[in-house]
Amino acid sequence: MNFRDILTEKIKNAFVEAGYDDKNAYVSLSGRPDLCQYQCNACLPLAKIYKQKPMDIAAKIADVLSNDDAFESVVACPPGFLNIIVKDEFLTSFINKMAADDQFLFDKIQNPVKTIVDYGGANVAKSLHVGHLRSAIIGESIKRLLRFEGHEVLGDVHLGDWGLQMGIVILGIIEQFGIENLQTDEDRTKNITISVLEKTYPQKSAEAKQNEDVMAECKRITFELQKGEGIYFDIWQKVLAVSVEDLKKNYARLGVEFDLWKGESDTRNVVRGMIDALKEKGFAHEDDGALVIDITNEQDNPPLPPFILEKSDGAILYSTTDLATILQRCEEFDTQRMIYVVDNRQGTHFKQLFRTVAKTGIAGKELDLEFSGFGTMNGKDGKPYKTREGGVMRLEDLINALETEAYKKLEDTIGNDVSDEEKKEIAHQVGVGALKFADLSNHRSKDYNFDVERFCSFEGKTGPYVQYTAVRIASILAKCESLSAKIDLPEGDVQRDLFILLTEYQTAVKGAAFELAPNILVDYIYQLAVALNKYYHEYKVATETDIDKKNSRTNTLKLSFELMKTLLDIVGIEIPKRM
Ligand code: ARG
Repeated sequence: MNFRDILTEKIKNAFVEAGYDDKNAYVSLSGRPDLCQYQCNACLPLAKIYKQKPMDIAAKIADVLSNDDAFESVVACPPGFLNIIVKDEFLTSFINKMAADDQFLFDKIQNPVKTIVDYGGANVAKSLHVGHLRSAIIGESIKRLLRFEGHEVLGDVHLGDWGLQMGIVILGIIEQFGIENLQTDEDRTKNITISVLEKTYPQKSAEAKQNEDVMAECKRITFELQKGEGIYFDIWQKVLAVSVEDLKKNYARLGVEFDLWKGESDTRNVVRGMIDALKEKGFAHEDDGALVIDITNEQDNPPLPPFILEKSDGAILYSTTDLATILQRCEEFDTQRMIYVVDNRQGTHFKQLFRTVAKTGIAGKELDLEFSGFGTMNGKDGKPYKTREGGVMRLEDLINALETEAYKKLEDTIGNDVSDEEKKEIAHQVGVGALKFADLSNHRSKDYNFDVERFCSFEGKTGPYVQYTAVRIASILAKCESLSAKIDLPEGDVQRDLFILLTEYQTAVKGAAFELAPNILVDYIYQLAVALNKYYHEYKVATETDIDKKNSRTNTLKLSFELMKTLLDIVGIEIPKRM
């Protein structure tokens, strides 16, 4: 039950009762909070249809609602707005119901959709870099948002584990240890370690870029590997295992969890059949030795390039495994919706992929495929984020930088009675919280600038500000016991505004989920933090001597804190024990 929906329902009924169409009648938050809390603008467009003055229509609606016990006042205002103020009793009764419900009266979705969120997208044997960071942060929160709504959601990391980078790493490993020292599982376990992998890929890949023969050998190995057996495959399996173990650690550090650790390679047993079927049905044809599907439509300007299934050397590509993955997900999980949280620069690839699915009908059913692209994280200078040496910034180093900054800030706020170990743990929560908050507070499709100091500031629209607010409330609550669950009528505007804001959370959650835009929720969380700061500055809680007042204020903070915690969890931000 959403408070604003209840108000809209009442307004709609009034329109019908007064003899008007109620299609556009809905209640929005007031644009003039100095005059009213809510407004309805539906009388203006109706005036034309019914050939009446908007003010006359508004007056009739106001009249119908004059006896409704939800409203303190509904006033017709020139040129035909309805300005609405709700009764404190009605608002407070809703707040009490919200506080009594562990789901805050959230309306779970009626028809859950089986959804896979494809995010993370780490590449095996390469270290995670900032490009993967956004996918992890945004994807995790989209997954949690949809789950909160009640959908059946699985997160899949969709590892890059079957492309050319594998041939490069395998060649590098063979050259270091000699193929004779990689024959047994024991040998491979001894030689293939994470530190070996971290060095091997950058070295060999630089070499392959310079030297055509080396590149040709890497491609040959990749092709052999894709047959799914032999020594290259054995080496690959070890590389995969070592890499995944390391990736799991890194993602865990970010608080990101995947249900499925699948990758491109998991399609290896279905790719052939898929290609044959596409050939047989006449969708795939040869073009310059490659096997392609034409997918462009007349309306496409410029035309959409063909979808490539197989290169002229017979190797399959990123596109091939992505197409096969869709089939597999349908088969294995009966998936209805797939959301890809990937860099905007891959937009064309996904357009091609989705078009191929639609054109060939290969999934055998209607599928909802969505590309949820994101922009680039830049340095303070507005250029893609780099290390001092100009290389790609590793995720680990980036998190370290945030933790160090957070630790510095905490030295000013946290007392000496806290152990260094605990301080480090809190610095981690604050550093990661700062990063996630900053990343998610812009619309995902926008680029943004990475700025450690600004992100970690305890003031302004930042993660630490929100976390700090929550920590303060928790410490007040720790000192207060509530005698009954009751929340009394608002004591003044600050509390009334807080109540209204509390009822708005559902609109924020639903809006963010609908648009796959966690920034909508982050904005709400920030507003809530600001309102709560005002609230606990305005009203004493722990030191209040009137026990009824104290009780009601405590319960107000309790509801606010629980809601804040729940919403922060959706965006993956933890509340530290102290700050
Ligand atoms: N591994 C890819 C990359 O690093 C991202 C994978 C995204 N998911 C997908 N199904 N293509 O760019």
